Amino acid sequence: MTQQESTLLTGVHMTQLAQATPHPASAPPQTAMLVLEIDDLSVSFSGRSRKHIALKSVSFSVNKGEIVAIVGERGSGKSVTSLTAMGLLANSAAIERGSIHFHSRHGQRHDLLNMKEDDRRQLRGRDMAMIFQEPMTSLNPVLKVGDQLTEALRDHQLCDAATADKKARELLRKVRIADVDRVMKSYPASLSGGMRQRVMIAQALVCEPQLLIADEPTTALDVTVQTRILHILRDLQQQSDTAVLFITHDMGVVAEIADRVVVM
Ligand SMILES: Nc1ncnc2c1ncn2[C@@H]1O[C@H](COP(=O)(O)OP(=O)(O)OP(=O)(O)O)[C@@H](O)[C@H]1O
Ligand SMILES: [Mg+2]
Repeated sequence: MTQQESTLLTGVHMTQLAQATPHPASAPPQTAMLVLEIDDLSVSFSGRSRKHIALKSVSFSVNKGEIVAIVGERGSGKSVTSLTAMGLLANSAAIERGSIHFHSRHGQRHDLLNMKEDDRRQLRGRDMAMIFQEPMTSLNPVLKVGDQLTEALRDHQLCDAATADKKARELLRKVRIADVDRVMKSYPASLSGGMRQRVMIAQALVCEPQLLIADEPTTALDVTVQTRILHILRDLQQQSDTAVLFITHDMGVVAEIADRVVVM
């Protein structure tokens, strides 16, 4: 890490660093390219006796087809930022200031912090999806992998059962799972950590979201699996033009995958 980077890492505010690798989508943002806009966002948590500011005046955007990495120290607000965007913040949290806008593929600009929960739920899972650090956070332990993968498609009424099954299998092959039949019929607990992580990626991508938020999705894995998963993500993102917000504290991962870096 350069001295400039380590200095920036200690700051509370987000700053955009230079591009890690050249990418056409990292040209100055045009409105048509925007997927996510976060502007002047501040979030607090209320404790028993006082309010604690978790996030202070954060602004950045993510464009179509771009991988933006958020890096920062423990507790700097990376997860709070992504949970706020997904509408999954804890009840004790309050948005103090700012806005988050999501641009849907039909050109509609959604004000995420001021929309009905029902509409929000429609966007979540279908247009915006999230991968968590621990797969069991989002995988249902009592549902077989095949049923979990097709559930989102059926919930959002995107296709019939046969097409959903076909899509699920296709996606498992895309995340390089060889024995698709066995995995479709398995419960998450019977799979290895790396396999569960792949299933979770497949689940997040099954509805072909425009935005994928990945919160430290590889930290729990060993280095070889980590690298393999990063390559899978990069390939999938290039094939489908998905915008990815990738949270990590690993500068090696950033160099490997990011088009642009946001530092907390
Ligand atoms: N549910 C919560 N209740 C109270 N405070 C919280 C809650 N979640 C997060 N915070 C606080 O918000 C701040 C930002 O936390 P956040 O989890 O976003 O950090 P982070 O950058 O993701 O850290 P890490 O690298 O450890 O994942 C921290 O001060 C944290 O203590
Ligand atoms: Mg976090």
